[in-house]
Amino acid sequence: MDPIKGLPPGPRMPRALQTAIWSRQAQWFLEQSRARFGRMFTVKIAYEGDWVLLSDPELVKQVFTGDPRVFHAGEGNQILRPILGENSVLVLDEKKHIAQRKLLLPPFHGERMQAYGEQMADIAAREIESWPTGVPYKLRPRMQAITLEIVLETVFGVHGGERMGPLREALRDFLDLTTDPKVLLPVLAVGPDRINRIPAFRRRTERVDRLIGQEMAERRAAEDLAEREDVLSMLLLARHEDGSPMSDAEIRDELLTLLVAGHETTATALSWAMERLTRHPEKLERLRAEVEAGEEEYLTATIQETLRLRPVIVVVLRKLTEPVELGGYELPAGASVAPCIHLIHRDPEIYPEPHSFRPERFLDNPPGTYTWIPFGGGVRRCLGAAFAQFEMAVVLRELVRRREVKPASPASERPFRRAITETPRHDAEVILN
Ligand code: HEM
Repeated sequence: MDPIKGLPPGPRMPRALQTAIWSRQAQWFLEQSRARFGRMFTVKIAYEGDWVLLSDPELVKQVFTGDPRVFHAGEGNQILRPILGENSVLVLDEKKHIAQRKLLLPPFHGERMQAYGEQMADIAAREIESWPTGVPYKLRPRMQAITLEIVLETVFGVHGGERMGPLREALRDFLDLTTDPKVLLPVLAVGPDRINRIPAFRRRTERVDRLIGQEMAERRAAEDLAEREDVLSMLLLARHEDGSPMSDAEIRDELLTLLVAGHETTATALSWAMERLTRHPEKLERLRAEVEAGEEEYLTATIQETLRLRPVIVVVLRKLTEPVELGGYELPAGASVAPCIHLIHRDPEIYPEPHSFRPERFLDNPPGTYTWIPFGGGVRRCLGAAFAQFEMAVVLRELVRRREVKPASPASERPFRRAITETPRHDAEVILN
């Protein structure tokens, strides 16, 4: 059969209304649309164009294994370019993207994570021991404090010393830029190319640039550079295919990309893990017992189940540079295809009782490449996936071993959209003992 030219059907509400619902009630919107239109439907989002949502693993596979020249991910992230810079792996496509990705991959190799274990555990333990007892306490901001500290030590390689405080402050301020509507709306309004000419915007990125510049200069001259394990040191020694080193601008852009991509996402996933576990005390108890016994399986399954049931990001996007045949349609260039993490993860044919939190489901069934996609897939799959899961395991291990945790209220927390992540509405509020 000839493919149908054009976009599959979808909700007929005006674009502005679809955008509003998308930003406040994404899950509901996706589920309603899937029930009505099936495994492929089109939604219309302001500034973003048309998204063809996909919730069939076979279609998702076709996108993730598709030609990177046709399926552009960087193009959809242009709003981040003035903030992260033009070398950021997130905003590039095709050859330039692969070149940066290759430079970044070695420090994020699965086995290398072990080197960070002790530092991560010390940071987590210090923070967790400082939390108050017996009063309602929001975990999400504290998880952010832990993940920021971990980035400072493992990515930037800054451990104590006089630069730690100012760098921490500057990075926090920088992170606000990426979630502040007062910043993002002007970027959308004037376009990513002109925003850098606005002095108020420049001032906010200059401080962080200066501090990172100082750190790079000092590190380059450090005698132990070759032995250091942190990502910055490894990038200083990394070489392009032609043998040339990375420029300061490239390293700056990638360090900030890793910070932005890895900090809030991991903190949010950790918050969800505790939100879900505290609503299932028998599972929390099993986790504690297994962790005490030095076993890893249930911990790993708990992390996989958390990321299945509460994925931090609900869709990933690829913008088409030319017409593409997919699922019986010939989709036009300029549209985006969007493998839908949320819908794939809630499909009862893939996951029986999809709404239940059951880490056990992963104990004998490892997650599938196209059915468990919290980190996206293909050549754009999250670079920090191994890092994030390792970090989650370290932090959860320290937490369940050290503290008793109960929910502050028995009701489950609903998802709430913060910039692009879906966070627990009450910031994973718990009572610790
Ligand atoms: C639980 C935590 C995390 C989640 C849920 C997450 C999720 C994602 C997702 C969905 C993507 C897009 C993938 C795609 O388009 O197919 C992505 C990309 C990316 N993530 Fe993560 N991420 C997490 C943690 C991290 C960490 C810790 C780092 C680094 C330290 C990181 C670095 C990146 C980078 C650099 C990209 C862009 C890759 C590329 O375009 O080639 N992420 N992440």
